[in-house]
Amino acid sequence: MVVEKVCSTTDIPKATMKGFTVKDRQILVANVDGTFYAVDALCPHMNGYLPSGQLEKNEVVCPVHRARYDVTTGKLVKNVDTLVRLATGHGGKDLHTYNVKVEANDILIDV
Ligand code: FES
Repeated sequence: MVVEKVCSTTDIPKATMKGFTVKDRQILVANVDGTFYAVDALCPHMNGYLPSGQLEKNEVVCPVHRARYDVTTGKLVKNVDTLVRLATGHGGKDLHTYNVKVEANDILIDV
């Protein structure tokens, strides 16, 4: 693993999130009550870009079919609805999570 600086803490105010490309990976960084979390930015369902969705407390809602993921754990909280699952042949699954460190206002991620 390599520790990469992605941005400063001031770039992601509380209750917001941003997407970054780090080592060819799309990563979402979210600020939940002052703590930063990093997960995959691409929805495992059909690659919806999660930073373009909504962050509601600790959950991100995919902008494509509305699956919900807990950004603090990467867990799938609410899957796509049954019709979408039938139409696309599968649902979502948990997001990969990344370790986050804050050093002198820099957000560092293990990639
Ligand atoms: S692409 Fe995210 S829920 Fe379908």
